[in-house]
Amino acid sequence: MESIPVILDMDTGIDDALAILYALRSEKLHVLGITTCFGNGDIENTTRNTLAIVELAPQMVPVYQGASHPLASSWQSTAEAFHGPNGLGGSEILHPVQTAQSVGAVDFMRKSIIDHAHDIVLVATARLTNIASLFLAHQEVPSMLKRVVIMGGAAFVPGNVTAVAEANIWGDPEAAWVVFHSGVPITMVGLDVTMQVPISDCLLSSLNPEVPYYNIIQEAVDFYLSAYNPGSPPGKRTAPLHDPLAVAIAEDAQLCRTRSYPVDIELHGQLTRGMTVVDYRERATTIPNIDVAVSVERNRFLREFAQRLQFQRIC
Ligand code: BDR
Ligand code: CA
Repeated sequence: MESIPVILDMDTGIDDALAILYALRSEKLHVLGITTCFGNGDIENTTRNTLAIVELAPQMVPVYQGASHPLASSWQSTAEAFHGPNGLGGSEILHPVQTAQSVGAVDFMRKSIIDHAHDIVLVATARLTNIASLFLAHQEVPSMLKRVVIMGGAAFVPGNVTAVAEANIWGDPEAAWVVFHSGVPITMVGLDVTMQVPISDCLLSSLNPEVPYYNIIQEAVDFYLSAYNPGSPPGKRTAPLHDPLAVAIAEDAQLCRTRSYPVDIELHGQLTRGMTVVDYRERATTIPNIDVAVSVERNRFLREFAQRLQFQRIC
């Protein structure tokens, strides 16, 4: 089987953690490295969480620290309610043995993309700050990538931070604008599809207790389920597997159906900053630039997710 070389760009976070495990337990993806970005925590937290999760996976990959704040503003924490004070649900303090590489995220991405010209798929499940910084500094790079698969945006459904903006775009709209205008082939895995693939109490309770990530995933996902279902006792809670779905689509594009649209990023609107504006008019005047995921093979993804991470039920 031919492997797909990928770089994961993440703000590890609870669903990012599940996405890392999904990627590092793949037989098809060859993860060259993971770059980190602020987002679900500050950059120290997201980098430490990434290192800690990698140590619980079946293969070690290097981790490269990236941006600590958006391109054009300072960073304010907004994700604590969903990802906890440390980004992974809170109470367990993680002490990874490894440290991040001395090379930074942008330099690592650039070198890898040149070394594997036209082959790499970049999977972004965070603010697009690292990728925008890379594209701004090295304008030859977008044309040397095979594709960027982005968990971000909301095409035909509401946002999750504001009425119209999704967190990864809202958290650095200027960066998203750079990436969406770069000409690189982009698959946008937005809330349209990620809200359709839930993890649940039922699935969580079936995790194989022998896996090395059992404790951290139990604790973190329990927090995530509470956050998405305030006031509901454990039992029937569900929460979206945003980031694992983006990794899964990078590995197997047939998991979703896409349609090509002109998509732009709103930078100025008082109510709409960070919106992914999709021009779905029949006679749109701009050329389609983004493959927007519009539907997903929910059951096939959930089955693969459960089997790969060793949940023992599919529900
Ligand atoms: C996205 O925002 C982050 O909090 C999640 O990890 C995911 O990447 C969902 O909007
Ligand atoms: Ca994320």
